[in-house]
Amino acid sequence: MAQNLLQGKKGIIFGALDEKSIAWKTAKRCVEQGAQIVLTNAPIALRMGEIKKLAEECNAPVIPADVTNMDDLNNLFTKSMEHFGGQVDFVLHSVGMSINMRKGNPYTDLNYDFTQKTMDISALSLHRVLQTAYKLDAISEYGSVVALTYIAAQRVFPDYSEMADAKAMLESIARSFGYHYGVKNKVRINTISQSPVRTTAGSGVKGFDGFVNYADQMSPLGNASADQCADYTVTLFSDLTRMVTMQNLYHDGGFSSMGISLPVAEKMASE
Ligand SMILES: NC(=O)c1ccc[n+]([C@@H]2O[C@H](COP(=O)([O-])OP(=O)(O)OC[C@H]3O[C@@H](n4cnc5c(N)ncnc54)[C@H](O)[C@@H]3O)[C@@H](O)[C@H]2O)c1
Repeated sequence: MAQNLLQGKKGIIFGALDEKSIAWKTAKRCVEQGAQIVLTNAPIALRMGEIKKLAEECNAPVIPADVTNMDDLNNLFTKSMEHFGGQVDFVLHSVGMSINMRKGNPYTDLNYDFTQKTMDISALSLHRVLQTAYKLDAISEYGSVVALTYIAAQRVFPDYSEMADAKAMLESIARSFGYHYGVKNKVRINTISQSPVRTTAGSGVKGFDGFVNYADQMSPLGNASADQCADYTVTLFSDLTRMVTMQNLYHDGGFSSMGISLPVAEKMASE
């Protein structure tokens, strides 16, 4: 599938931890489509993760950056522009983490120090990334930024806990900054609301198998995979979607439009 949709384009990919990561698959797909990329992740994730393998496969430098650290982000964009010899054309924000969920704290008994960290890493970080790029004029005209989100921002999924609030904020930042960056330099900012996928972040959600199977049976097309998410993201980085901005785009096999599906109705009837 090499249509060269990203021929000549340069981008930064946040959040590739291992082969299951949505960012890992997206990085590979971008390179297959002709892009050059820089990979980045938190220093601790780089130590634990397997990113060197991906970097070799993609012929990409790895520049560490904690998304909550402005010096790291400044360094990332500055070094990326030096590496590419100019602005970047696309950015993938594929970052999320909740310490409360990791520790098993329920939504009705949150530790707010942890919640602030969750918001910073999972939501405010998009603003930090965009503000850094905006000030450095680091993204080209009609450049494209995509952040990954989940439908718990709109509907209640109790086990998604504080991450639902983080995703709602993330989607709002995409709209709000989408205005300013659109006016400044026609830069496009969208979120992709993806089906559940078994990744490190995904599997941190309590009852995750239930999420995955329920969504699969509710969706007329079934769940969208991480590979399919990578394909969709490529289209948003390409010139074929130059007028799409400030949108939350569902990539979920139809799940978000469903009330009930026949398989789920039949299961309920048999109870
Ligand atoms: N897996 C799913 O079911 C699913 C569904 C919808 C949306 N998403 C979203 O997709 C994105 C990617 O998640 P994934 O499922 O590929 O899991 P993943 O665990 O592979 O990726 C999460 C990434 O966030 C990075 N990260 C955490 N803290 C960071 C920090 N301080 N600085 C920089 N990076 C940091 C991790 O190192 C990791 O690479 C997340 O935003 C997630 O919420 C996932």
